[in-house]
Amino acid sequence: MPTKLCVNGTTHYSESSPSTPLLYVLRNELGLRAAKFGCGLEQCGACAVLVGGESILSCGLPLSAVGEREVVTVEGLPALAGAADGLHPLQRAFLEENAAQCAYCVPGILIAATALLAWNDAPDRATIQRALAPHLCRCGAHPRILRAVERAADQLRDSDDKRQTTP
Ligand code: FES
Repeated sequence: MPTKLCVNGTTHYSESSPSTPLLYVLRNELGLRAAKFGCGLEQCGACAVLVGGESILSCGLPLSAVGEREVVTVEGLPALAGAADGLHPLQRAFLEENAAQCAYCVPGILIAATALLAWNDAPDRATIQRALAPHLCRCGAHPRILRAVERAADQLRDSDDKRQTTP
């Protein structure tokens, strides 16, 4: 029996076995390639996606464990933010800070940062480092990644302030 799955606002019915890791369903069945296969062992963070608003390593999550929770991949981040220019503020901040080198880890980091900023809109540097600790970046871009998350947090707070003061 197909498994019902809501991904980036769209309902899908997956024919994969319920034990198939969510990552394989996203990449191979739905063609959503932002989440990456790195280690396949929940050790590197490259496969993170939002599941019910939480950053989850999709290489270790069986399809059957997703349930009714909404899945959001990097492809769905702009819509999540209602971004008029097609980029989530975090994506824009990563470009502005030049925070990607090989960029293999970046989709997972964007997901972890999105989850962080959803509950803490002014995280300090140590909080950002803790949230991103499960994500391995081997290129040395980490200082720029941290600055990008801080920049996005500032921009998101500014736009919230503007929304609240606009009649
Ligand atoms: Fe999932 Fe490395 S591929 S944590």
